[in-house]
Amino acid sequence: MTTQSTQTPTQTPTHTLFKPLAGAQGAAGANVAIWFNDQPLTVPDARSVAAALLAAGVSRFRATPVSGAPRAPFCMMGACFECLVEIDGVPSRQACMVEVKAGMRIRSQEGARDLPPANLTDAPMENAHGR
Ligand code: FES
Repeated sequence: MTTQSTQTPTQTPTHTLFKPLAGAQGAAGANVAIWFNDQPLTVPDARSVAAALLAAGVSRFRATPVSGAPRAPFCMMGACFECLVEIDGVPSRQACMVEVKAGMRIRSQEGARDLPPANLTDAPMENAHGR
């Protein structure tokens, strides 16, 4: 089972079905550097964490609490919760509702999580529209 992208930090993703539309914001090729499961990745800018990770070839975002089955984003609009990841130490973030930012440290979410640490409870909560 593959848990991480195989790209190196300086590669532009070439092995994905997800490509930006011509003229779309971020389609000019702007990239940002992030970390996923302690591996450096260069991902497209100006999109959600889920879209950026998918574009980088990441196909496993979390594992279910009961069976450990792999999961990846499904709806891309905040409804299914299949995209839960840990972002900058805060668990259970919906990757499809958070805009990717340079330097983000993202981890796949393995099973059930507790509430976020008390010192991180001020993290802004996203709504179904990412605002
Ligand atoms: S992909 Fe469905 S909630 Fe994020």
